[in-house]
Amino acid sequence: MRSKDSRIDTTVAHPARRYNYWLGGDDNFAADRQSGDQIAALLPAIRTAAVENRRFLRRAVTHLARDRGIRQFLDIGAGIPGAGNTHEVARAIAPDSRVVCVDNDPIVGAYGRTLADGSAGTVAYLEADLRDPERILTDPRLRATLDLRRPVGLTLLAVLHFLSDADQPYRVVRDLVSALPAGSWLVVSHATADFMSPETAAAVEEAGLRSGVPSRLRSRTEIARFFEGTSLIPPGIVPTPQWHSDDEPRVRSTAADAAMYAGAALVG
Ligand SMILES: C[S@@+](CC[C@H](N)C(=O)[O-])C[C@H]1O[C@@H](n2cnc3c(N)ncnc32)[C@H](O)[C@@H]1O
Repeated sequence: MRSKDSRIDTTVAHPARRYNYWLGGDDNFAADRQSGDQIAALLPAIRTAAVENRRFLRRAVTHLARDRGIRQFLDIGAGIPGAGNTHEVARAIAPDSRVVCVDNDPIVGAYGRTLADGSAGTVAYLEADLRDPERILTDPRLRATLDLRRPVGLTLLAVLHFLSDADQPYRVVRDLVSALPAGSWLVVSHATADFMSPETAAAVEEAGLRSGVPSRLRSRTEIARFFEGTSLIPPGIVPTPQWHSDDEPRVRSTAADAAMYAGAALVG
């Protein structure tokens, strides 16, 4: 099925809708579910990984908004708006927070524009690609929403693994971070193969490629490179369930089940 927006092709899987499927949402189609099930056959804990990433998002954005006084967020790879996205978490703590959400999925765009329309100029949505940071940074809607002379929380959550090495992900992050003033924050979560066998990792990357959602699983050392020039706060780069989770009274997921690393760092 093709939607009225000719750029929305529901016959091929898309990361935003597949992630929505893993999280138990309704905004997904057969191709997304099929791709999601193929990955789940290789990584049975993939839904746990998605949930742990969302928990990390909540804790990290809470930390920035509540404990570090951040009132501006640039959330790239924002995902389908819903309970627990960056803008929701930030604005629940500080309703005056200003947020720019960026995503390259036209379906996310449709939801995002509705969200922005009802926000009286405090939330903007840009349909843009992370691989073109210049276009994001110079967009008039970003400039109208964020004051780039004041600290910004840049959140790149579960998105950088969709950039191949040829996409120059380190340059992309460097360009974004260098546009932000001292006192800003870089928050990253990223899928890793560190806790899988090489065979499983290769099969996961191959399955992603076949279903049209290629991803590049990176090692902790490779993920650490995204933070070059910034100051990581404790506990550094750790599996998502281990990042500032002491106040969550529950049995933690294992690093292998979470399959992602996360960290937050001060800029400047
Ligand atoms: C797994 S979801 C993560 C959503 C949210 N950040 C979170 O952590 O809950 C990844 C999101 O990144 C978006 N995305 C993937 N590649 C992108 C790119 N090159 N530019 C912008 N967004 C991208 C997808 O459309 C999807 O909404």
